Amino acid sequence: MSKVTVVGAGNVGATVANVLAHKDIVNEVVLLDLKGDFARGKALDTWQQAPVDYYSTKVTGTEDYKATAKSDIVVITAGIPRKPGMSRDDLISTNAKIVVSVTQSILKYSKNPIFIVVSNPLDVMAYATLKASGLDPQKVIGMAGILDTARYRAFLSTELGVSPKDIQAVLMGGHGDTMVPLPRFTTVAGIPVTDMITKAKLNAIVKRTKKGGGELVKLMGTSAWYAPGAAAAQMVESIVKDDGRIFPCSVWLQGEYGIKDMFLGVPVQLGKEGIKRIITLKLNAEEKKSLKTSAKHVKDVISSFKKMKLVPATPKKAAKQRKPATRRKKK
Ligand code: NAI
Ligand code: 2OP
Repeated sequence: MSKVTVVGAGNVGATVANVLAHKDIVNEVVLLDLKGDFARGKALDTWQQAPVDYYSTKVTGTEDYKATAKSDIVVITAGIPRKPGMSRDDLISTNAKIVVSVTQSILKYSKNPIFIVVSNPLDVMAYATLKASGLDPQKVIGMAGILDTARYRAFLSTELGVSPKDIQAVLMGGHGDTMVPLPRFTTVAGIPVTDMITKAKLNAIVKRTKKGGGELVKLMGTSAWYAPGAAAAQMVESIVKDDGRIFPCSVWLQGEYGIKDMFLGVPVQLGKEGIKRIITLKLNAEEKKSLKTSAKHVKDVISSFKKMKLVPATPKKAAKQRKPATRRKKK
């Protein structure tokens, strides 16, 4: 893997390019934005950081899709972010058109890239990318779970006074207030989190996590970018290195968790092919109910997208190609 394109050179896109350059794992990052000079400026600034921070990844900026030719991975961050008082779903009418046109423009110059979608409303924009591209569903992945889990882990780290490195967690569902952090699958250096914190404090952290994006919008007047940019770069890294890492990502579900024909956050293993496998956890009744509620919410926003008629109802190749869910092997 040698070439990554990041579409949108705003707060999140420029951060993805910068973090990726620091990882020094790809030859080239192309940063594309409608505002070409802005993209060129962000790219040049990152390239001028290379002698100081010691990396060789070449970063260039452009408004011309020709420069993105033969990209292995494309990260879509183009679109408007929310302002205080807005939900992520309020962005759909603007961002759906942008994401569909970006996907189509990319495919003119790159035949079979892996798409990592960041633009909001996330699960629906991943759906839009799949439908507009007609690619195999394992090549379209939404970034949200790594960010939402990171927020949950950071809050727990502060509360418990332990390193965030030692907190592992699973969080599922849509990228919105219905997301489903899972305390039963949260550990602190292998110790169940429920042994380390009171129920009331844990509940408060779960609640704060669900509103984590909104908390930052209130503080800054726009949405976050450092943690989101780093999260998308971590997905690129895992795909490039093909190192078998497991993350929560928004992926096309075909019956896993009883959910079908939509994107939703679940734990997956990433690899050079995109999604290597979907991991099916044994959820209890309460967890299943929360996931179902989240899925219903995302499905409603997908219906709004469908009404926009930006992509044909049945694209040529997309959907239903992936084999049935790969279940977690029992010991
Ligand atoms: P921003 O406003 O800083 O940057 C967006 C960039 O997209 C702008 O530079 C704009 O010129 C560019 N753009 C717009 N239309 C374009 C097009 N057709 N082609 C190329 N470039 C285009 O916004 P920011 O903060 O970077 O957020 C970007 C998106 O990411 C938003 O939709 C935001 O809600 C979403 N987001 C998603 C997160 C997630 O967890 N999935 C986390 C944080 C942000
Ligand atoms: C976030 O969660 C707005 O989706 C963006 O920060």
